[in-house]
Amino acid sequence: MCNLACFFIETFGCQMNVYDSEKLAGILSELGYLPTNDVSQASIVVLNTCCIRNTAENKVLGRIGELKKLKDKNREILIILVGCMIQQEDKAKELLKKHSFIDIFIGTKNLNKLSAIIKNTLQDKKNEKHSEKIFVEPFSINNDYIEQITTPAYRTSFPNAWVNIISGCNNFCSYCIVPYVRGREKSIHPDIIYAEVVSLLEKGYKEITLLGQNVNSYGNDSLEGWNFNELLIRLAKINMKYRLRFMTSNPKDLTPEIISTVREYNNISKHIHLPLQSGSNRILQLMNRKYTYEDYYDLTKKIKKIPDVAITTDIMVGFPTETEEDFLDTLRAVEDIKFHNAFMFVYSARTGTQASKMPQLPNKIKKERITRLVGMQNGISQNISQKYIGKTYEVLIEDTIKGSNKVCGRTDNGRLVSMAGERELIGKFVNVNIITTKGSSLIGEIEND
Ligand code: SAH
Ligand code: SF4
Ligand code: F3S
Repeated sequence: MCNLACFFIETFGCQMNVYDSEKLAGILSELGYLPTNDVSQASIVVLNTCCIRNTAENKVLGRIGELKKLKDKNREILIILVGCMIQQEDKAKELLKKHSFIDIFIGTKNLNKLSAIIKNTLQDKKNEKHSEKIFVEPFSINNDYIEQITTPAYRTSFPNAWVNIISGCNNFCSYCIVPYVRGREKSIHPDIIYAEVVSLLEKGYKEITLLGQNVNSYGNDSLEGWNFNELLIRLAKINMKYRLRFMTSNPKDLTPEIISTVREYNNISKHIHLPLQSGSNRILQLMNRKYTYEDYYDLTKKIKKIPDVAITTDIMVGFPTETEEDFLDTLRAVEDIKFHNAFMFVYSARTGTQASKMPQLPNKIKKERITRLVGMQNGISQNISQKYIGKTYEVLIEDTIKGSNKVCGRTDNGRLVSMAGERELIGKFVNVNIITTKGSSLIGEIEND
């Protein structure tokens, strides 16, 4: 129950959005609002939207429908839309027209103005002054703003902290909306990142995850020539017990130096998320991914020389013109590489992208292919998990499991493990013996020393 004014933020999409929501929560806390998990208790509701696939947009639209009912009951609630979906000009304007009950649309680059905008809107409401819909350049995508609010005042994922190192994307993979809604690459100065990481570790965070659509191109936009490998080394040299993770790596930019650095430094997590997308060279070229399957396979061979390393990936089926042959190339790749885990998606046409203008495949074929792919990958993930049984791993405990006296955490290479344990263990490193598996996740027992 909120006796004071509360805010509710719902985040759709990727970790970038989770990080942006933490910044938003910081802004709202500074205004004196408290967080709530119960939307019906909130006086400010924020939807941080995503538009990567049609399914993501539909989820947002569904929630907007529910918020309308809430607003009908209580006109005082302030409803705010932010995030990638409204960075598309047409979409933002359409939403504004269709859902007149939404109070504020605000673009990512203008988030630093949010505080002032909320204050003004509330003042207008108080004075019963009719305020205009607030529409602050939702679709503008200049990333120069990012250093203004790099540090969220409010974090939600202890013992992990997200640290954005590069915003935007320059790659224009032909299926992808991200470069259109997040703008061009903009790296954050290494000194700012270093200071933030040190301060987080001093506060007790035990895991830092560096974020970027393509962390490997970190620094390419700077005149001073910083690069990702140097940043990793600088952070890995901080003499405190913690895990350093990063995502996402684009295969075209993952250098041998970065692989050596991951191998060399104990506190860099032995996990590389390396999206393959397709095993067919014809499709990879149409996707504008700028590597061949052979390049990718060679990279995985180099990575696999790191002891206990886990490679995970993203794969898409049903890209325009994908034939059964192309799809079989993807299945073969999955069989050959044996990813620890994979996020698997059905291609979804995004307006404005190159691929949306290519001949599209029927849904039936896409569905059939995703079922086959998921079936194969699940089998592989489960087989890999079996190999963990009987061994002991250092696990960082992240959370409790609701409705049980269990906790969960991850091995250094990112495998999820659950075990009996209490809340006090969150943020601690413990040695866990793996007893059995459930699906692809591991079940263990804390070793007493
Ligand atoms: N920057 C990351 C990916 C970000 S989006 C990279 O380049 O690897 C996360 C994943 O969503 C992508 O790897 C891709 O597999 C998937 N994706 C992106 N656009 C998509 C689309 N139009 N339809 C289906 N999946 C998509
Ligand atoms: Fe999208 Fe490609 Fe950029 Fe990843 S690298 S965000 S898939 S355009
Ligand atoms: Fe979605 Fe934007 Fe992330 S489109 S996946 S929230 S960068």
